[in-house]
Amino acid sequence: MNPIQVGLLGAGTVGGGVFTVLNRNQEEIERRAGRGIEISMVADLDAKRAQEIVKGRAPIVSDAYAVIRDPNIEVVIELIGGYGIAKELVLAAIAQGKHVVTANKALIAVHGNEIFAAARDRGVIVAFEAAVAGGIPIIKALREGLTANRIEWIAGIINGTTNFILSEMRDKGLDFDVALKQAQELGYAEADPTFDIEGIDAAHKASIMSAIAFGVPVQFDKAHIEGITQLAPIDIRYAEELGYRIKLLGITKRTSHGIELRVHPTLIPANRLIASVEGAMNAVQVFGDAVGTTLYYGKGAGAEPTASAVIADLVDVVRYQSVDPDKRVPYLAFQEDRVINTVVMPMGEITTSYYLRLKVADQTGVLASITKILAEQDISIDALLQKEALQGQSQTDLIILSHQTQEKKMLLAIEKIEQLSTTLGPVIKIRLEELS
Ligand code: NDP
Ligand code: HSE
Repeated sequence: MNPIQVGLLGAGTVGGGVFTVLNRNQEEIERRAGRGIEISMVADLDAKRAQEIVKGRAPIVSDAYAVIRDPNIEVVIELIGGYGIAKELVLAAIAQGKHVVTANKALIAVHGNEIFAAARDRGVIVAFEAAVAGGIPIIKALREGLTANRIEWIAGIINGTTNFILSEMRDKGLDFDVALKQAQELGYAEADPTFDIEGIDAAHKASIMSAIAFGVPVQFDKAHIEGITQLAPIDIRYAEELGYRIKLLGITKRTSHGIELRVHPTLIPANRLIASVEGAMNAVQVFGDAVGTTLYYGKGAGAEPTASAVIADLVDVVRYQSVDPDKRVPYLAFQEDRVINTVVMPMGEITTSYYLRLKVADQTGVLASITKILAEQDISIDALLQKEALQGQSQTDLIILSHQTQEKKMLLAIEKIEQLSTTLGPVIKIRLEELS
C-alpha cells in the first residue's frame, strides 16, 4: 500500500522533531501502522528557514491553503500555534475532508467544541495527543486506558516553563526573571511567555483533560487561573520548612456540586512522587475509582518528545481512518450525545486546605485573635510556624496551615484578619492539596 500523504503546516520546533523522528524510525512506525507515512508538502511563512528543517524531503509553500487543497493529502498536521490562522486552517482542512493532527492546546481549549462538531459532521479524525503534556500519552490514558473508571480528580504539573522556574528558584536561589530567561533560551516557553507564567497554558491543558475525564464540553472560559508571578521566594522556603513543595498545578475534580477546574500555585507534601518532578518535566496524577492513583511522567515539551505524540496520532489516523466514524474512539472519550454540561464551580465554592503567611506585630494576644477569627469561620488549624522576630524588630512572620475549608469562608476570615491592627500587611494565601 502507498504511504499515507501528510501535509505539514508550520515547520518550527515541533515540525522539525516530526521530520527527525519519522525519518529515524520510519521502519518501526510502518511496521506498527501497517502503512508508510510521508510528509509530502510543507507550508511555512519563511521558506528559507523551513528548508533547514525539511532538507529537500518535501516541497515548501508559503500558502497553507495550497496544502489543504492538495487532493493527494489525506492528513494535515497543524503546528503553527495560536487561535487565529490555525483555527481557520484546521476548519478548512476538515471541510476538505482531511484528518487533522494538532499539538495546539490553545486552539483545542478555546475552539475544541466547534472543531469537534465540524469534524464529526465531516466524519474525519481530529487528534491532539501532543496538546497536553507533550510526549506523555495522557490523552490516550484518560480516553482509553482508564475507560473503566469513574475518574474523580486529576492534578498535573503541565507547564514545563513554570516548573523549571520554580525548581531554579528553590534549588539555586535564582530570581524569577533570570529563570524565565533561561526557560526561554532552552525553548520551553511559549512565543508569548505570559501564557506560561500566568497559568494560561496550564489552564488550556487542564480544560482539555477535564473534558475527557468527566464527559463535559471543553470549558477553558470557566477555569480559574493564577500563575506564579505573585509567588515570593520566602513562601517557597517556608513551605519547605513545613514539609511541602510549591508547584503550579492544573487541577480538575468531580464533586457533588459540580466540577472544579483551576490552575494555581499549590503546596503539596514533599513526600508525594509528583513533588519530586523538577525542571521542565511534566507529571499528571489521575485518581480513578477502580485503579486508584496513577501517575504519568515525562517530557512535556521539546521537539522530539512532542513529535512522539504527533506521530502516535498519525499512526492512529492510519489505523482508524477506514473505521466507521461512529465506531472510532470519541474525541472527548464520551459518546457525543452523552456529554453533559456539568457546571464548573465558582472558586468561592471549592474546598481545599490553605497556607497563610501573615506579617504580625510581635506581641501577646495576636495569635489568639487570629485563631478566634478562623474558628468563627469553622476553619481548623493543621500546623503553625511562628518565626522569631529579627533583633530590633517588633514584627514577625506567622505561617498557618489550615485543614480543608470552603474558599469563601477562608476569604472572609482573611478579610477580618487583615482588619486587625496587629496584622501589618496583606495575608498571603496559597492553596494546599494533599493529593492522597
Ligand atoms: P514554532 O513557532 O517553532 O513553529 C511554528 C511555525 O509555524 C513557525 O515556523 C512559523 O513561522 C510558522 N507559521 C506561522 N504562521 C504560519 C502560516 N500562516 N502558515 C504556515 N506557517 C506558519 O512553534 P512550535 O513548533 O514550538 O509549536 C507548534 C505548536 O505545538 C504550537 O501550537 C505549540 O503550542 C505546540 N506545542 C509545542 C511544544 C514545544 O515544545 N515547542 C510542546 C507542545 C505543544 P514564523 O516563525 O515565521 O511565524
Ligand atoms: N510552553 C509549554 C510548557 C510548552 O512550558 O510546558 C509545552 O506545552
